[in-house]
Amino acid sequence: PKRVRVHHLREAKERGERLTMLTAYDAVTARIFDEAGIDMLLVGDSIGNTMHGHTTTLPVTVDDLIPPARAVAGAARRAFVVADLPFGSYEAGPEQALATSVRMMKETGVAAVKFEGGKRVAAQIRAITDAGIPVVGHLGYTPQSENLLGGPRVQGRGDLEAELLCEDAVAIQEAGAVAVVLEMVPAPVAARVTEILHIPTIGIGAGTQCDGQVLVWVDMAGMTDWSPRFAKRFGEVGAALKAAASAYADEVRGGTFPDADHQFDK
Ligand code: KIV
Ligand code: NA
Repeated sequence: PKRVRVHHLREAKERGERLTMLTAYDAVTARIFDEAGIDMLLVGDSIGNTMHGHTTTLPVTVDDLIPPARAVAGAARRAFVVADLPFGSYEAGPEQALATSVRMMKETGVAAVKFEGGKRVAAQIRAITDAGIPVVGHLGYTPQSENLLGGPRVQGRGDLEAELLCEDAVAIQEAGAVAVVLEMVPAPVAARVTEILHIPTIGIGAGTQCDGQVLVWVDMAGMTDWSPRFAKRFGEVGAALKAAASAYADEVRGGTFPDADHQFDK
C-alpha cells in the first residue's frame, strides 16, 4: 500500500475525500487498523484513560508515549502516524516544544506530532514546523485543560466563542499546522472552521462537515460499558473478547484444551 504522506491530507480536502483517523497504542491494533485502510493513526495521550487507568490525560509523560509511538509507527505500513505531546511537554515555549518533538521523531518514527491549543501555542507550531516536523493542532475541548474548562464540555457555543475558535484555527494554520482536530464543537461552528481553513479539520464530536473524523479506538470498537455520546460503537469487541476468554477458561477447566491438535506428542 502507498504510504499516506502530508500532502495527501490537503489533497483529500481538495477532492472532498473524507479522512479517517483512529487512536492506536500498540502494534497489534495498529496493524489491524492499518490493514483496514484507516488513513491516520494517533498515539493519543488518551492512553492515560484507555490503557493506564487514569481518569485524565494529565499524568501521561513523554516516556509513557515513546514506546507505544514506536510500536505503532513500526506496525503501520500505510497510515500517517501522529503522536500527541503530553501535558507539560510543550507549553513553556518553542524551545521546550521543539526539544520534545525532536525526541519524539528521533526515538519513534512517527510522521507528525499533535498538541492542544490555538494562538497560545502558535509560536511552538512555527518553531517545530520550521524544523521540518509536521504539526497537527487540537482545538475545541482540549482534555489537558479540563480543570480550567470545567470538564468535558462543548466549546465554541455562542457567537463570541465561535469567533475565537475560528481565530485560533486560522492562527495555527498560519503557524504551519498541517491539520487540526476539532473536539466537542457545535456542528455548524466546525463546518464554518472547515470552510475557512485550507488544511483539513478532523472532527470528534464536531459533526459531519469536517474533512475527516477521529475516534478513540476503544470507544469505536465497544471495548467498555460506557462511551461518550459522540463516539458511536461500531462493534462489540469487548463482549467478543470476554466470550473468547470464558471459552478458553471453560476448556482448560474441562480438560478439553489442549487437545491433540495443540500439543507435541514427542
Ligand atoms: O488523545 C486522543 O485520543 C486525542 C483524540 C481524542 C483526538 O487527542
Ligand atoms: Na490527545
